[in-house]
Amino acid sequence: MIGFIGAGQVGTALGIYFHKMGLTISGYYSKSLESAIKSSKRTHSNAYEHIHELIDSSEYVIITTPDDAICNVVKKLCDIKIDWNDKVICHTSGALSSTLLDPIFQLGATTLSLHPMLSFADIDYAVEILRQTPLTLEGKGTLMSKFKNMLENASLTIHEININQKALYHASACIVSNYLVTLMDIGISSLEQAGFSRKDATQLIAPLTTGTLQNVLTKGTKNSLTGPISRGDINTIKAHLDTISRDNRELEQIYRLLGKRTINIVKEQKQLDEYTLIKLKEVLQNEKNNN
Ligand SMILES: NC(=O)c1ccc[n+]([C@@H]2O[C@H](COP(=O)([O-])OP(=O)(O)OC[C@H]3O[C@@H](n4cnc5c(N)ncnc54)[C@H](OP(=O)(O)O)[C@@H]3O)[C@@H](O)[C@H]2O)c1
Repeated sequence: MIGFIGAGQVGTALGIYFHKMGLTISGYYSKSLESAIKSSKRTHSNAYEHIHELIDSSEYVIITTPDDAICNVVKKLCDIKIDWNDKVICHTSGALSSTLLDPIFQLGATTLSLHPMLSFADIDYAVEILRQTPLTLEGKGTLMSKFKNMLENASLTIHEININQKALYHASACIVSNYLVTLMDIGISSLEQAGFSRKDATQLIAPLTTGTLQNVLTKGTKNSLTGPISRGDINTIKAHLDTISRDNRELEQIYRLLGKRTINIVKEQKQLDEYTLIKLKEVLQNEKNNN
């Protein structure tokens, strides 16, 4: 029986997914009973008014509250007088590790963190795509492999992660997901400055960005990089910097920083000679000497 503390996006989507995969959901305990009832209806399970009722009825308890609420939940759990040895307590935060649950581990429970590498903005879409979504797992306790088997039998792909690498893992996820959005926002805004409406600008970048993404995912970064830095077109880069630096200092810094990082990929491509690589680095480095 799987129970959820926190009847929000992740808890509801995971519950629906597990239910669809034939697993039994005990139910939901949440800050508001209303949310618990809503999610329980979607998973043919119970809405619990008291947290100990959920714990009593569940072998696996997944905490899907906001990150900041997990410590409070842990405190509440520690007050419950039961045999914790046959319980798995797991949270789904990407940034935080399972050590947050150590007080319950001390009481005998298996304590884990399970993070789906997915944005749960839309519950139904998340349920649909969970089967193709890798999840990372770390933690300790005798029931860890049993829990992992249960997830794998539910057709989920689990990667075990070193507990010390969780922060770096989550920072990487933010870079590729959140900052990709930011990068696209910067590009769209620059196109607006160049005279396009936001709608047209978004349409303009569609094939370019979806094609690039597809290439990176299938061929890797080295084989996907094109453009002036990859070709060693120094005059084109100077022209870009010339126009950007005139009225957008922030964009100039971003262009230079990402440009310098892009040279690392160009080196891997082994297409440009050493002299061109040095010149590229100079032009991207030197803020005053673009001409
Ligand atoms: N969203 C994502 O894309 C995503 C992806 C991967 C992992 N995660 C992780 O998954 C966890 C849940 O995120 P989420 O996006 O599902 O959050 P969410 O939609 O905001 O849902 C959180 C739920 O927890 C309930 N809650 C808040 N404080 C509580 C408490 N003290 N006790 C019991 N229930 C409480 C809320 O209550 P009420 O509704 O009852 O008011 C809400 O239903 C977080 O750790 C997050 O980092 C999120």
